[in-house]
Amino acid sequence: MGRGMSTDHPERPRRNFYGRFKGKSLKQSQKTYLDEDLAALAPGAVGWKENPTRENLDLDSLFVGKPVWLEIGFGGGEHLVHQAASNPDVGIIGAEPYINGVAMLLGKIRKAGVENLAVHPGDARDLFDVLPDQSISKAFLLYPDPWPKTRHHRRRFVTQEHLEPLARVLKPGATLRVATDIPDYVRQTLEEVPKAGFDWLAERPDDWRVSWEDWISTRYEQKALREGRAPHYLTFRRQG
Ligand SMILES: C[S@@+](CC[C@H](N)C(=O)[O-])C[C@H]1O[C@@H](n2cnc3c(N)ncnc32)[C@H](O)[C@@H]1O
Repeated sequence: MGRGMSTDHPERPRRNFYGRFKGKSLKQSQKTYLDEDLAALAPGAVGWKENPTRENLDLDSLFVGKPVWLEIGFGGGEHLVHQAASNPDVGIIGAEPYINGVAMLLGKIRKAGVENLAVHPGDARDLFDVLPDQSISKAFLLYPDPWPKTRHHRRRFVTQEHLEPLARVLKPGATLRVATDIPDYVRQTLEEVPKAGFDWLAERPDDWRVSWEDWISTRYEQKALREGRAPHYLTFRRQG
């Protein structure tokens, strides 16, 4: 048994997740979305019970040959649905462990009627385990949890524990977008993401001060703006 493996399952790595899985009680409509829609949208075989040997997901059959994008921590899902609606020729997978957020996303999917989405209701690292190498063309990490205390910085997504598997599943030349309102998160992102094999594409301040052309502001960004914090939009390219 390798390091970091738990004893209850021979292959399952022991991973600490410090965020929230559940918030206030779900509305009846949200429970209905979860009951009726989630199973059909969740890519099969991400769970350890269904796929104990960690066979790769068959993305070609999931999205019939479309390029695949990934949004990590989609929160309420506004950006995910916006990108899916604007890019019908792409398949997008969203990962989010917070079930209230997943339920909000499902409501938005019903309203928008988009069909090019898959949802992993869990930690993105479990999804990385079953994504083929070099299979994703674009990834979004939008307002990841800031973990402001210095002793908690190692919980941030922009650590090698998360970035290495992310780099592995991205195609050479793939884009990674990171948005954050926390200056120290910018610092850590600019330190850690290049170490994982990415180039930062900014050439002038407007490249990180001005949002992407196809951007839609997220709930978390709205909160940051209300509270007077400035967004930063960082664009990286996977080397290779
Ligand atoms: C600050 S919120 C931002 C949500 C949304 N992107 C937005 O901009 O409104 C960060 C989100 O990342 C999710 N998250 C944290 N760790 C994660 C992980 N390992 N995999 C996937 N999502 C994660 C949290 O549950 C939370 O919903």
